[in-house]
Amino acid sequence: MRLAFICSEFEGLLKTGGLADATRGLATALQQAGHQVQVILPRYGALYGVEQTADWQSLYFDLGHQTYGCAVRHTVVDGIKVALIEHHQFFQRPRPYDDGEQPYPDNLQRFAFFCKAALAYLQTQPESIDIVHGHDWQSALAACYLKEMQLGALAQSKFVLTVHNAAYQQGFGREQLGLLGLDHWHLPAELPTTLLALGLWQADSINTVSPGYRDELLTEPAANGLAELYQQKQNRFVGILNGCDYSRWDPSTDLSLPARYDGSDLSGKALCKAELRRQTQLPDSNAPLFVSVSRITGQKGFTLLIPALQQFLSNTDAQVLLMGTGEQQFIQPLRGLEQQFPQQFRLLEGFDEPLSHQVEAAGDFFLMPSLFEPCGLNQIYSLRYGTVPLVRATGGLKDTVTDLSERGATGVVFEEPTVAALVEALSIASALYRNKRRYRSVQQRGMAQVFDWQQAAIAYQALYAQTIANAE
Ligand code: ADP
Ligand code: GLC
Repeated sequence: MRLAFICSEFEGLLKTGGLADATRGLATALQQAGHQVQVILPRYGALYGVEQTADWQSLYFDLGHQTYGCAVRHTVVDGIKVALIEHHQFFQRPRPYDDGEQPYPDNLQRFAFFCKAALAYLQTQPESIDIVHGHDWQSALAACYLKEMQLGALAQSKFVLTVHNAAYQQGFGREQLGLLGLDHWHLPAELPTTLLALGLWQADSINTVSPGYRDELLTEPAANGLAELYQQKQNRFVGILNGCDYSRWDPSTDLSLPARYDGSDLSGKALCKAELRRQTQLPDSNAPLFVSVSRITGQKGFTLLIPALQQFLSNTDAQVLLMGTGEQQFIQPLRGLEQQFPQQFRLLEGFDEPLSHQVEAAGDFFLMPSLFEPCGLNQIYSLRYGTVPLVRATGGLKDTVTDLSERGATGVVFEEPTVAALVEALSIASALYRNKRRYRSVQQRGMAQVFDWQQAAIAYQALYAQTIANAE
């Protein structure tokens, strides 16, 4: 099939979270399975230094009673062709969605422009596109625009929308439909006015990134106001678990680590832990090291984690090292924990790919107490790195980690989103760590798990085929 991804992040070019890992991992696996995949991305400020091929194209198209022009540049990442939509005013900014504190006030126009430009570009291609695959709210409007642009290479194209995170939707007011070029559309009165809702409404097929989260989205509050839309499409709404790119996330080949290791010899893992402790001036200790790499936002459970650590660290000699960037409302109290527990707690603020691998490798446990989690990739990486995940039973976390109380345990799973439940889970993990044989068997079982993109690609191929068949 000829497939075109319209997305806002792609690992190796632009990443703020798992969306980038997912688009890259899936595109690569689909290409390896014999499909032709191209990716279309805004040319953000960070992409002005990226090496380009010599060919480029100019485009003109109408949007909201205005004619726009833009350039399309090309680059190649790991054999995958990427088209970059260039518009200096809209995209040449240091960060993709916000100024560091507030979302950009023109995000609506920016992503309407991006979707329109991406389709205008695809339309001009010599060979027809079977599936246009959008990811999250940033590409959702393309589902609507495609309905009016079924010419040229897009004449037969179908649209699939993947929801990586239903909490981000980009709302708008009905008076802004003109700005989106949709003022001649008749929106059902009950349709929520968010870009994600428009995309779900018009897409030929929709899916999300784990079976567990798919089921959660059929009801509120998980659906963030869109439960009815998901229900209406439920016969064609599937959950496909993300994968892990083991060519980048495997401790036996990972060159960002100070030492490599695998399940048969974990001495390299001990070196990784000792090195991270040395770098962060955490004292050597026989107590477990809990780590996390995460966006520091409400989704990731910081309202539970901060008070839970306050209690837990007062009663144990365990150590905790968190790495991430995000909201000041959580960063301030985390800094407070660092002052209160100088021998036990570190916050590494920053976004750093190699360091994130080192943290993954160094921990005995990986903390992911998310309030909700569409899939989550770090718990999957942690399994392979022998860093036993401690997760809340939600979305993709529940689908990928098996609790100690069950056969085939690979981690510690707690149910209730309460501080008490998290403190208990931390104590259970500490007790497990003291039982070296049991800890080792849980760790080994986790390291042997396989969640690869090849499996996910098979499910996406079936979804594409079904989408085309439904239309015929
Ligand atoms: P989400 O997409 O909700 O943030 P995921 O678990 O799906 O959560 O993916 C997060 C991705 O972003 C992982 O690859 C993780 O390693 C990476 N990441 C998050 N924070 C940082 C950071 N501060 N530095 C480097 N990588 C990070
Ligand atoms: C989102 C979700 C995360 C998921 C990622 C990739 O950012 O928060 O759970 O793993 O997308 O699909």
